[in-house]
Order: sequence, then structure tokens, then C-alpha cells
Amino acid sequence: MKRWLPILIGLVGSPIIAFANDWGMGASNAKIPPPTIFTPVSTPANEIDTVAYFTITVCAAIFVIVAGLVVYSIIRFREPPGDDGREPAQVYGSNPIEFAWTTVPILIVFVLILTTARTIYSVQAAPRPPDSILVHVIGHQWWWEFRYPELGVVTANELHVPLSDRAHPTPTFLDLESADVAHSFWVPRLAGKTDVIPNRKNTMWIDPHQPGIYLGQCAEYCGTEHALMLLRVVVEPRPDFDRWIAAQKQRAVADASVDHGRQIFETTACVNCHVVQGTAAEGRFGPDLTHLMARETIGAGAAMNTPDNLKTWVHDPSTIKPGALMPAMNLSQKDLDDLVAYLVTLH
Ligand code: CUA
Repeated sequence: MKRWLPILIGLVGSPIIAFANDWGMGASNAKIPPPTIFTPVSTPANEIDTVAYFTITVCAAIFVIVAGLVVYSIIRFREPPGDDGREPAQVYGSNPIEFAWTTVPILIVFVLILTTARTIYSVQAAPRPPDSILVHVIGHQWWWEFRYPELGVVTANELHVPLSDRAHPTPTFLDLESADVAHSFWVPRLAGKTDVIPNRKNTMWIDPHQPGIYLGQCAEYCGTEHALMLLRVVVEPRPDFDRWIAAQKQRAVADASVDHGRQIFETTACVNCHVVQGTAAEGRFGPDLTHLMARETIGAGAAMNTPDNLKTWVHDPSTIKPGALMPAMNLSQKDLDDLVAYLVTLH
């Protein structure tokens, strides 16, 4: 048993570890349903769900047959009382049996390949309809940048997309690129994983049929904070989505009461890595902060976006996300308070 324990824990544990989201790592997600491929709400995810059930059924049938034969043999051919302990007659080589156990598995694998290939093709060959939304996804260590080139919006970690009506689909098409190393974009309830590879553009699409928040996760090990490279997709009815787009297009409005905080922001290293539209901050290395407070989480889902967490984050991001590439700002308490007072005006 001792030898098997680590293997058992690995088998059971890996799907759990894959979803740090669910298990208390990252921001609180108590109200958001767990991310699983078995509750799909989008066409690509539905197709994957169908193939997954088919594959599991085939594998379960094989397991039942093989395990059944083993159990039958153990019971049927156990040592009878008064056995003299001699070996029974051994049979070597049987062409019909060898033929059967070669062809049947080949046929099964062939059927699985065909089913999978048909699904991959039908998902990948889907044309982009004219009223779809286009989003550029850029994977960074360890956060997601979302740019809507046709709508003039840039945001991070929380992707907003419109609900897609089955009768009049308005899917969202994603172009995925990496700013550094290989990542993988995965929102299990919406679509399969798509690798995000440097110097290459991959594409995928989603057409969510149900409003809500869907949790996702980087699914390719990409460095220290891979586990906290979380994301969420906010699916909302079209009018709400349009309102969100309109709000995101607004520039930051200077509020005189937080002038000192704004000055700190604009005169420290913040501006080298962050954008706040309408100010001198034009850095692209970190997330766009123009509408920071429109996001529920900070640090790519590492913590809820509250003023206290913002203070902790700016003071020293590594206390929330060890290894985060943002440096500790080491401001005085007064400057930190004023800076965060400014940040919380960025709606
Ligand atoms: Cu990005 Cu793992």
C-alpha cells in the first residue's frame, strides 16, 4: 500500500491542484460554480463534453469486460480441495486469439481517433460570423491582457463577452499570443485549452448560452506563479455588455481630491508598466489600470479588489503572489494611502 499511496494521491490530486480556483487559492469564488468540462455552456465545450462521455463509456466498457474476466478466472479456476499442486497443461500460441486481441483494440482506437478528429475539425472550421466579437488575448507572466481591436477597449484578467443566442449567435473569437513564454488559455465550461505560444497566433471561439461568471486558468506551466494565473469570463446580456464597453472607453477623469495620489502614480515607476488613459502612464508591461475598479480581482485573480488588498499589493505584491514581477513600491504609509485613494477612483 505504501508504494501505491503517492500514485493514488497524484491521480486523485492532480485535477484538484489544476483548479487552485476552487480550493481557496486566489480570490474568493464561493458563489461561482466550479470549472468543469462536464457542465458546458458553449458549443465547443458541448462538443468536448460529448467526446469525453463517449471515451469514458468505451473505457468503462473495456474495464468492466477485462476486470470481469479476471474476477471470473480467479473464482472459477481457484485451487480445488485435494489438488495435487501440479501445473495444468500450458497452451502456447493461438492465432485466432492473437488476431482478436490485436484487431479489436486497433478498431477501438480508430473509432476514438475518428470521433476526436471530427470534433476538432467541426470546432476549428467554424467561420467567424460578421457580428462576432474579436478579442486579442496576450498571455504574460502571470496575467492575461484582453484587447478588443474593433471596440477600442483594453482590459486584463476579466474577459467580458456578450451572451450568444442560439437563434442569432454572437460568438466571441479569440486570437491568442504570448508576450514571453508558453501559456495555455482554458475556461473549461466554455471551450477546450488553447496553447498560447511565443511568435505564433492561435485562435479559438466561444458562444456562451448562459449568463454568468466562468472561471479559467493558465493550463501550461509558465513559471513561479503559473498556479495564480487565473482568469474569469463574464458573460452578460448584450445591453449589459454594450454598457460595459461604453464605460471602458471613457478616459480617466481627474478628481482633485486625490491629486497627491495621482502625482505619486505619475512620478514613480508605476507609469513604466501601466496605462491609465488620459494620463502620462503608458507602460504596457503590466495590466491597463484605466478602469481598475471595474474588475473584481487583482493580481490575475490572486485577491479580491479591495482598497486594503490594493495597499498590500502595491506595498509588496509578493505577500499576495510570491514571484510576481511587479516590484515592491516601498512607499511611506501616507503616500501609499494617497496612491490607493487615487487608484480607487479609476472606475
Ligand atoms: Cu501562464 Cu501557466
